[in-house]
Amino acid sequence: MNILIVDDDDQVRLLVSTCLENQCKATVYESASVQDAIAIIKQQPALDCIVSDYNMPNGSGADLFRYLQSTGSKLPFLLCTSEDLETLPEFKNADLAGYIHKSDVIRSLPKLINNLKNSRVNSTGETAYPYCRIKLEALLRSDILSCDVYVKLSGLKYVRVLSKGDGFTHEDYLKYQKRNIQHLYLKKEDLTIFLNTMLVGIAGVEKVKSLNSPAALRSFADQVDNTALKQELNELASSLETDVYSIELHESIHEKTRQAIKAFGITPEVDNLIKGSINLVMQALSKEARFEKLLEKITLNEDQYISSHSILLSSLSCSIASLMNWSSDITRYKLILASFLHDITLEDHHLATFQSVESVILDGSFTGPAIKAFAEHPKAAVQLAKEMSAVPADVDRILLQHHERPDGSGFPNRSPHQHLTPLSCIFIVAHDLVHFMFDQKQNPIPFEQFVVEFSPQYQVGYFKKILVSLSLALQNSAISK
Ligand SMILES: [Fe+2]
Ligand SMILES: [Fe+2]
Repeated sequence: MNILIVDDDDQVRLLVSTCLENQCKATVYESASVQDAIAIIKQQPALDCIVSDYNMPNGSGADLFRYLQSTGSKLPFLLCTSEDLETLPEFKNADLAGYIHKSDVIRSLPKLINNLKNSRVNSTGETAYPYCRIKLEALLRSDILSCDVYVKLSGLKYVRVLSKGDGFTHEDYLKYQKRNIQHLYLKKEDLTIFLNTMLVGIAGVEKVKSLNSPAALRSFADQVDNTALKQELNELASSLETDVYSIELHESIHEKTRQAIKAFGITPEVDNLIKGSINLVMQALSKEARFEKLLEKITLNEDQYISSHSILLSSLSCSIASLMNWSSDITRYKLILASFLHDITLEDHHLATFQSVESVILDGSFTGPAIKAFAEHPKAAVQLAKEMSAVPADVDRILLQHHERPDGSGFPNRSPHQHLTPLSCIFIVAHDLVHFMFDQKQNPIPFEQFVVEFSPQYQVGYFKKILVSLSLALQNSAISK
């Protein structure tokens, strides 16, 4: 079955094509505008159906539908949009083959398409295949992988190349492209969760502004099939149900953030998304009565070390995640929450400037109990997070691992780098960068020096991937100056 997808949003086209290729064994053609769609329709008479968006910049789905009617075409036309059908007068009494709300696309579209082709799909025997094909672009958009990923060797042989919880990076993308591999594979039973993660990503981009309201968060949660994520979003919405919380940042933190954003070429759009997410986390924390005092540590004393470095850390960890193409709302939310909670159990601001227990002991100015508190603060932060209602899984891993090191010399567990989650690695690098920035006497901050200084340590696992992304970002923004 040959299907033409018309949508100006490339993420939506990617989602719909992934869905139709795997759920309906369709051959998919894509077009980003009505004009291109008409050109494809003229060249490709073997089309079986069109799936079209409504709102597009140069001509709407209604224009395309009218064009088909004017040519006397009987091509089935499925409208797939975020608009309610009743609000579109052009389609009143129109002979549509189907209407799908975008939030329901994963569930409804394959059913409609399979009905259209009279259940021919299941007679081919192809659905018995245990793996489904996923474009590299779709993996790149998925942040942290929600399931294992395989490469096809030959015939029916598949080998796992990435595991659930891994991040698919731009470097991975280029590696497979170089080998002329355009698709990797998922187990068939993992497809729905993978598609839902993509859908959440798309909805996140579209709705990021409205997400700051509890009502929007709840309706966003309604669109998600993933039960754990649904619960997280609903809990977050509950925690935001009352008034809005916001903070005034200290000028020196503003300035440091500005310099980092400029040096790494973070776009104003991404910067705004990060700021929106920081505000969202502040709101979530402010609704936890028992954290009011702890929050004061962050918000009222922004010239104090723990508060200022937590705020800078939230912005930098999200910026690094965006350079790695891991920038969904949920990823940002986790990194920011971890930034605010990681050192919050430490009472002494000077103590928080240290990176290892050894250096605290060597300093000689701390008592036994203070040293003990420092050695145990990652575990204390995990304990604190457990008492909160809106802390998603993964945040506790970041909190526990924030003083681990790439060479396995960190504390509290001396974990080897293979045991650190991708988000923990981002957090550790961002934390190193924040310390580097605070230690700097030079202005502007020499970010290239950070890369040179830390490069020998960051030669393993995700640390290496992060290092490559940081170096590339510095080079690119230096070139564009
Ligand atoms: Fe810290
Ligand atoms: Fe810490």
